[in-house]
This record gives sequence, C-alpha cells and structure tokens, in this order.
Amino acid sequence: AALKTYDFNIQVNNVSRLCHAKPIVTVNGMFPGPTVYAREGDQLLINVTNHAQYNISIHWHGLKQFRNGWADGPAYITQCPVQTGKSYVYNITVTGQRGTLWWHAHILWLRATVYGAIVIMPEEGTPFPFPQPYMETNIILGEWWNQDVETIVNEANKLGLPPLPSDAHTINGKPGPLFPCSEKYTFAMEVEYGKTYLLRIINAALNDELFFAIAGHSMTVVEIDAVYVKPFTTQAILIAPGQTTNVLIKADRPPNRYFMAARAFEDAPITVDNKTATAILQYRGIPNTVLPTLPLLPAPNDTKFALSYNSKLKSLNTPQFPANVPLQIDRHLFYTIGLGVNKCPTCQNGTQVVASLNNITFVMPKVGLLQAHYFNSSGVFRTDFPEKPPTPFNYTGAPLTANLGTTTGTRLTKLAFNSTVEVVLQDTNLLFVESHPFHLHGFNFFVVGSGIGNFDPQKDPAKFNLVDPPERNTVGVPTGGWIAFRFRADNPGVWFMHCHLELHTMWGLKTAFVVEDGKSAEESVLPPPKDLPPC
Ligand code: C2O
Repeated sequence: AALKTYDFNIQVNNVSRLCHAKPIVTVNGMFPGPTVYAREGDQLLINVTNHAQYNISIHWHGLKQFRNGWADGPAYITQCPVQTGKSYVYNITVTGQRGTLWWHAHILWLRATVYGAIVIMPEEGTPFPFPQPYMETNIILGEWWNQDVETIVNEANKLGLPPLPSDAHTINGKPGPLFPCSEKYTFAMEVEYGKTYLLRIINAALNDELFFAIAGHSMTVVEIDAVYVKPFTTQAILIAPGQTTNVLIKADRPPNRYFMAARAFEDAPITVDNKTATAILQYRGIPNTVLPTLPLLPAPNDTKFALSYNSKLKSLNTPQFPANVPLQIDRHLFYTIGLGVNKCPTCQNGTQVVASLNNITFVMPKVGLLQAHYFNSSGVFRTDFPEKPPTPFNYTGAPLTANLGTTTGTRLTKLAFNSTVEVVLQDTNLLFVESHPFHLHGFNFFVVGSGIGNFDPQKDPAKFNLVDPPERNTVGVPTGGWIAFRFRADNPGVWFMHCHLELHTMWGLKTAFVVEDGKSAEESVLPPPKDLPPC
C-alpha cells in the first residue's frame, strides 16, 4: 500500500462549447477534472483548496470511507463546505474495493462541471478476473448548459419551476461533431486492429439516465460500481447518473471510424431528443476524413430494453469475490418516492414542486449532520423517519392529489451497528411516475429484486435473488415500479441516501442513515480531522 497525494485547486476558468463561452468551476483548470489513481489498500491525501466564489465540497462517489464519513464530502451531511480561500485534506483509505468510481462536487449544482474519474487497480499481483486489456480509457458522460447553471437554477427556484434542461450531453466534456462549433470538441479514441480495450464508463450527467453504444462493436460488461459482474455481451448499456460500468471491446471490425454515442433514456416525461453526444472510435491508419457511422441506440422510451439489461447484471460470486448477501433481515424499510406540490410563499405563484420519501421532503441542516451526531448536539436532526408511508394506497395507479402535499423535516433513520437492512423503494404516481437512480453513501448494497407496479410484501420477496444479485452503490428504481436492496450497517456514521437526479435531490428526495457505533473502538466513528471546515 502506498501513500498518494493530490492537489485539487478549485478555480474558475473560461470554457467554450456549442459556440458559447462561459466561466465554469474546475479542478486545476481541467474539464473533466483529473483522474485519481489508486491501488487497493492505498491511502489518498487529496488537498482541496478553494479559489472559487462558491463554497464547495467534493464527494468520492462509491468509496466506502469506513468509519471515516469525514472524508465522504456531501455538504451539510458529513462536513461543512470548504469556503473561498480555505482548504481541506480528504484523507481516504481504499480498502476492499477495486474498479472504477468517480468524484464530484456535492453542493448546489456545481457537479455540472466539477467531476472526474477514480481508477482503483487491484492489489499488486492480483489480475482482473477477465482477459487483460491491451489499453484502457475513461469515458465520462456529462451534460453541458450554454448558460451559467447556478443562475438557471436560482431563477427557476424563484418561480417554483424546474430549471431549463441542459443543451447537450457530453463524452469526456465534449459534445461531438453533431453540434455547432463542436468539430474540435470531439473525443476520439484510437485503437489497433485485433486488440482488446477496457472502457471505464461513468455517468456524471445531472439529470439523465443514458444509453451508450458503439457502432459496429458489441461490449462485454465486466464490472459495475467497482464490483465485478458475470460478463455478458450487449449492443448498448444503460447507465444512470452516479453509476459506473466497465466494458471490454475488441477492435476486430473492418478498420474504419465509428461513432460512440450517449442518448437519454427518457421514460417519463418524454421530451425532444436533441442532446445526443458522440465521440469517435478510430482504427489506426484511417484518415480523419472518413465519415463515421452512428450506432443503433435503444429508442429513448425503450423501458423493455432497460429492464432486460438490468436483469442481466449479476455479481461474479466466486470464492475470491463472494456476494455476501444478508439473509436474515433486522430492519425492513419501505419508502415511497413521490413528486408533489407544496406551498411556497416566496415563489412567484405561491407553490413549488417538491419531492419526498414517505411524504417527507428533506430539509438541509445548517451544520454537518455527522458533527451533530459525533458531538451529540441536539436540535439538528431527528431520528424518527417513518419505516413506511403514512397511508398505503395504489402507488402507481391514478394520481392521488390528496397526497400531493408533503411534510418537511430533517428526519433520519437510526441503524444499530452491524444490523442488516432491507430497503424497498416504491415509485408512486403522485404527479407522474418516473425512474429514480438512488445512491447510498458509505456502502454497497445488493439489489435483490425489482418489479413494475406495487411491491407485494407477501409474494415478491419469494422471488428475490439472494445468490448473485448485483452489488452496487446506485440503482435505478424503475418507472412506476419498485426495487429492493439489502446491506449490512457495518460502517458507523451518517450516510446520505438520495436520488442522483440533481433536480430531485434539490427538491428534497433525500434522507440519511445514522449508523451507531459498535462496542469497540474499531467499530466507532474516527475522530474528526483538525482541518474539518467550520460552518
Ligand atoms: Cu454521487 Cu451523494 O452523490
């Protein structure tokens, strides 16, 4: 194990895309930001210094941060943000994880431009459980707005309405040549005939689940969210914001130029698709003048593809990489996901769209929840989050206008150390049904089941996969359906859980778990670092 240090300078740089130049927040002037490389077991010291006008914090999405929520990063959950002119060192030990993860700003909508890859190599001498690739490339999918994102969001919030959608999707920060002024903002990857390549695909988009495909080439999925899966071959992948997917591709097609493309999976509501990002896979020796061909992507509303793709994801589950699915469950939690409308005295028309879990719209605290928990300060949060919704109803049936209003509060769920937890997330039809990629900080979980319609507590658990379910940190709750996941609460601290659509997070689709300390010091939250930012 090695000690690796990184300097992350948060700064403002002018960047131009789609014929529009604007100042954006970056790390070290890079967009996307620098890749963090580590080997399993390494310790990372990442010194974040804030030279921008915004307060900021960085989240290391998918790193478990055992006992060390201080380095997790979500603003006001595990730390107060790093203020302008200040710095904070994220002290991270990478244990028991290898693969692709990513980092992003975790305050406001700053992750629109502040994001990058985390590549964790297996321990020295431990090969991948799949053919060794000749080379590898990061493919980070994102979104670009022509105007300043924070301004758009502030304006929309004043009206109580959703902000304008982005103007383009991007691949490694570039929209590709289908957009105006974008010829030189096109990511290209050169391949050698006959070789195998590993693509580390990350969805850093704010609000869109994406399909991704490469013309002429199939992909073999080998890992998701830094966990190996049983390899399978597919023409396209589905990837939700927050998720990562490693695929192998073989350059064995007629040498040419091929497009790769990312387009939104728009289950509901359907909007016009004019945001498809493209990049180029180019065989060595082929001139740049050859026109590439476009891949076939699933239709924007191809829910069937989405369901069938997700059902192919299975943990590798070998003696070396076992799937330790909890079989006995101590806590059963059932959370409904709703979009509703609340009164908003400061909004232009008196109401605003809100989102809720069990009809509770989460209110962000003014101080970090982890500090409040560690120092036992009262009055910051409550631990009475309901284990089920206030009233059971036909969740995906007709809109229940009576349930549109939500209550507000900073309400959390307390979990005993090492207890086993099952969470069922149920989409509802309060306003309309929509897919929600849910992310849990501090843990991986096993996705043991999912379905369309209402979860049936009598019949559905019998169909759970308790042998080799996919293990991940972010999962899409299907439109008008449910998913069930299980995890062991063996990481003490305060851990955020939220929809990874930034719009829904902002609207309150979030909560947190307080995992209590165990009996011994080794099972307790570490003391806070000296440089932890004050509020
Ligand atoms: Cu990738 Cu709480 O986020």
